[in-house]
Amino acid sequence: MIATFAAVSLIAACSGNGNGGAEGGDAAGYPEQNITVVVPFSAGGPTDTVTRMIADPMAKALGGKIVVQNVEGAGGTVAAGQVAQARPDGYTVLMHHIGMSTAPALYKDLGYQPLEDFATVGLVTEVPMTVVARKDFPPTTLADLTTYVKANSAKVTLANAGIGAASHLCGLLFQAAAGVKLQEVPYQGTGPALTDLVGGQVDFMCDQTTNTTGQISAGKVKAYAVTTPERVKSLPDVPTTAEAGMPQLAVSVWHGLYVPTGTPPEIVQKLSGALKTALADQAVIDQMAKLGTAPVAAADATPEAHRAHLEEQLTTWAKVISDAGVKAS
Ligand code: MLT
Repeated sequence: MIATFAAVSLIAACSGNGNGGAEGGDAAGYPEQNITVVVPFSAGGPTDTVTRMIADPMAKALGGKIVVQNVEGAGGTVAAGQVAQARPDGYTVLMHHIGMSTAPALYKDLGYQPLEDFATVGLVTEVPMTVVARKDFPPTTLADLTTYVKANSAKVTLANAGIGAASHLCGLLFQAAAGVKLQEVPYQGTGPALTDLVGGQVDFMCDQTTNTTGQISAGKVKAYAVTTPERVKSLPDVPTTAEAGMPQLAVSVWHGLYVPTGTPPEIVQKLSGALKTALADQAVIDQMAKLGTAPVAAADATPEAHRAHLEEQLTTWAKVISDAGVKAS
């Protein structure tokens, strides 16, 4: 099982996982047409990056073609709602992250239920987050950042990718740890948010290393901390939040693949097998390592492990979110 973290575990699979049903397509010849993998955030952001890393090797393993489609909006819930309604034939797949487990506690009228409306295919990766700011933002350390934002709470802006996005959750944890409420600026994904951070239009945000590593290494943004217990190899000079005095800010972002409930189990197994093959591909492993992450173990790239993790995370986040008193609508 993927590692979990003490303060807030961001990963956690599949009895009765909804993988059965008579509605689905023909498993024997699958795939006979292009498979669309829906990404619930902007192109060029962290979820998109991870999806595009595995799309080609998965397609090759399946003997078909995968098209990546970005469906943005409402912290990833627009895309999840669309895929929940899609034909359960294996040709519409959702890549989603921790947001799958947080949305039910955040949104009153979500329109889908993660455990009922989706069959899990397998976990993909778990990505550390970074606390980053525009290059010329005055604070130089995480402790300075805390002091600064408390003193300037009326004017500091905190970017995120909408309610329930990983950046939103990490931002909530930061604000809770710092004891401050800031003005949040929502984007359709942290791809465009990071562009604005580099451009100086927003002050700071939490974002995944799969999006921030290049800009941190190039000195285009300031990095205060990584949110994992250990430093990230590709960012050796960036301290952990614990080292920087904020151990409560412990979070990383798990990703998984989903299909609508009713998709034939044989198709789910084919997708899971292709996922495992992609995650064992040396080029994928190398690309992920450069961006501070790694594929999950083969045992976690399964419907069962994914479902168990989702169940655990739904429970964990329901409590965190209820304690924080946050609602989207
Ligand atoms: C994205 O792909 O834009 C991110 O995963 C957004 C987020 O969850 O912060």
